[in-house]
Amino acid sequence: MKIGNLELDGAVFMAPMAGITDPPYRRVVQEFGVSALWTEMISSHAVVKAHKVLPTMDIANHRLPVIFQVIGKDPEIMAECARIVEGFGAAAIDINMGCPARQVVGAGGGAALMCDPGLVKHVVREVRRAVSIPLTVKMRAGWDEKRLNAPEVAGIVEKEGADAIVVHGRCRSAVHSGPVSLELIRQVCETVSIPVIGNGGVSDITTAVNMFQETGCRGIMVGRGVLGRPWFPRKVLESIFGFPVYNTGCSLGGIVRSHFEDQLSCSGVLQGIRKMRKHLGWYSRGFAGASEFRSSVFTENDPKRVVVSINNFFGKVVVP
Ligand SMILES: Cc1cc2nc3c(=O)[nH]c(=O)nc-3n(C[C@H](O)[C@H](O)[C@H](O)COP(=O)(O)O)c2cc1C
Repeated sequence: MKIGNLELDGAVFMAPMAGITDPPYRRVVQEFGVSALWTEMISSHAVVKAHKVLPTMDIANHRLPVIFQVIGKDPEIMAECARIVEGFGAAAIDINMGCPARQVVGAGGGAALMCDPGLVKHVVREVRRAVSIPLTVKMRAGWDEKRLNAPEVAGIVEKEGADAIVVHGRCRSAVHSGPVSLELIRQVCETVSIPVIGNGGVSDITTAVNMFQETGCRGIMVGRGVLGRPWFPRKVLESIFGFPVYNTGCSLGGIVRSHFEDQLSCSGVLQGIRKMRKHLGWYSRGFAGASEFRSSVFTENDPKRVVVSINNFFGKVVVP
């Protein structure tokens, strides 16, 4: 797949997820193969006004292109943020028009942008002008069931020079649950000629095939389907697109341990252990004894003991 002049290997992506797709987890997913990596959302206000360098902007040891997602509503601040993150090595910029969080939409950013097509135009235009790398926009189906305006917004975004669009087929009022409108994603695909990446509810090969077949999208993005299963995007590439089988059969305990060590070295011991708890819960899902494992590691603050629990729990389990 090509996004502007960015040539990618395939078209299956891990969705940006705040608190999850940080540098350590991106490095884990990268080991299995995915078409590009997305950062978590980056507040344009924090970067431009508070001069912050956020941990997620660190792309050390990322071998795949990294698309930096920026969020905000002020066209000039968004443009300046895009310029700054381009300097951090972004392969492309993605504008967040989908975040449903009350604090974000209350300030006019994320999904709230879709309610103001004039502002969408202005934001995309300024960001487009600010950077020379490709530009994408990640949007929702619309604000609520009465305002499903993704096709209209997509048309504006394309006209203002975006190179691809990601559509999460739920509206803002649904937040992250409920049915995904493949029909809305299909309408976006029919409206624009730039590539559309479908998102929402892809959790296995069947839902991945459906997303492609029912919408005509050129790529798919997987969010919660990647939690605890960093190999899932690669499985989609293998099953649907015939990519060679890769990294199957390696030790799951080894993957979890190196994720744990990487997280601790990036976030410090205490914060790292806390951040890893949710991942340990996801990695252990579906295995016998998972709830005992979770009770032991969720209360443990000694990294050596956590590693012992990881070794004992995952034993000789290998990646499927
Ligand atoms: C915990 C969490 C954090 C998220 N953070 C972001 C984010 O930073 N930027 C973004 O565009 N979407 C974010 N999303 C939305 C996902 O990218 C994706 O659109 C959504 O989860 C639907 O895909 P899924 O059904 O495959 O999970 C987040 C979702 C979750 C569950």
